[in-house]
Amino acid sequence: MKLSQFGQQLTSDSGIFDLMADLGQALNVNPNLLFLGGGNPAKIDGFEQLISTYLHQIADDPKALNQLVGIYQSPQGSEVLLDLLVDYFNEEYNWPVERDNIAITNGSQSAFFILINMLAGSHGASHKHFLFPLVPEYLGYSDQALGEGYFKGCKPKIELIGDDLFKYKIDFSALDIQSDTAALCISRPTNPTGNMVSDSELNQLSELARAHEIPLIIDCAYGAPFPNICYQPNKHPWDDNHINVFSLSKLGLPAVRTGIVVADKPVIERLVKINTIMSLANGNLGPALLTKLLQNNQLNAVCEDVILPFYQQKRDWVIAQIRQSFTGIQYRIHQPEGAFFVWLWFENLSIGSTELYQILKQKGVLVMDGEPFFFALPEDWPHKNQCLRLSYCQNENVLTQAVEIIAEVVRDLASS
Ligand SMILES: Cc1ncc(COP(=O)(O)O)c(C=O)c1O
Repeated sequence: MKLSQFGQQLTSDSGIFDLMADLGQALNVNPNLLFLGGGNPAKIDGFEQLISTYLHQIADDPKALNQLVGIYQSPQGSEVLLDLLVDYFNEEYNWPVERDNIAITNGSQSAFFILINMLAGSHGASHKHFLFPLVPEYLGYSDQALGEGYFKGCKPKIELIGDDLFKYKIDFSALDIQSDTAALCISRPTNPTGNMVSDSELNQLSELARAHEIPLIIDCAYGAPFPNICYQPNKHPWDDNHINVFSLSKLGLPAVRTGIVVADKPVIERLVKINTIMSLANGNLGPALLTKLLQNNQLNAVCEDVILPFYQQKRDWVIAQIRQSFTGIQYRIHQPEGAFFVWLWFENLSIGSTELYQILKQKGVLVMDGEPFFFALPEDWPHKNQCLRLSYCQNENVLTQAVEIIAEVVRDLASS
């Protein structure tokens, strides 16, 4: 079989495929693996009970059941849900949005596939790129471009905090927006680091984007208003130059594959056209469940009362565990401000993080190698090979064993 350029590009090795293959092994095939790898959310019983109630209600109502399984959704998404989302964003967020500012997609990953290829790439004489103001950034973007040269990134400033923490900050002096920059893009909170781009950094990015007449894309997969896994208050004002991408996945619904894009109407109109060509229609399950959450006024309550306390407790617990097990090891943790990851930095690691990931995998511990998250930064920077991402979604038994094995391996490397 002879593959086209598209075929070759999308079938060659990709970080996101490896990540999902590890995830599949650990969560579907081999439960003995200690899984601190990909971004699967935790199983939260209180949330799943609510979903069970909604599913029973739908199954017991023939009209609702037919709408769930027997009818294609309209291109922009379920009309009922779009109206509920308009009310939600108007009332809860004070965003002056209307139905035509919102589109549903099959997961935010596919929304990004559309946005990246709709905005970056060939523009006749010029070739445009996405600019990530703060790298490391979500590796799932990295393999989505339908060509070369779609991404540029900006090395962050590193602020050391106390004995064992640090924080990346946007280096605005190095943020080089050019005439061939198609868009700025951040995840907030950031996957992989749990960093929260501050309100003032967000405002500054917003002003720069507007001044350069390019959109600022904000990936809210972990952010406000849902699931809002953010450990301190933050602001997220409406701006018609922002493209906001939301997801139901990190609420606890990764398998329903629902993304939501909120942006200026012309952006939505075009995105919907591409999404319809790609997918024909969106799946109905995620929209049906979100409709129930909104109709019953339970979305914010579940985020505040169930999801955030759950992850906050796990974050505090795992950090205490790391501090206890890592005595004598030289390490720093990125200040954990959101999402459900710990980003570890071993400045004096004698091997690269990719090799460390492999050694840990052989010992039954799956983590994420930090290096692929620097995909938009081609230049050499030792820091790129010194980081690991750990998810803290698994139970305490799994986390304890994994942290101890990581400590043992890193300690052995330091003494050999
Ligand atoms: C930052 C970020 N954006 C987008 C996605 C894609 O999520 P989904 O396609 O499940 O909505 C993920 C998944 O892990 C993510 O971490």
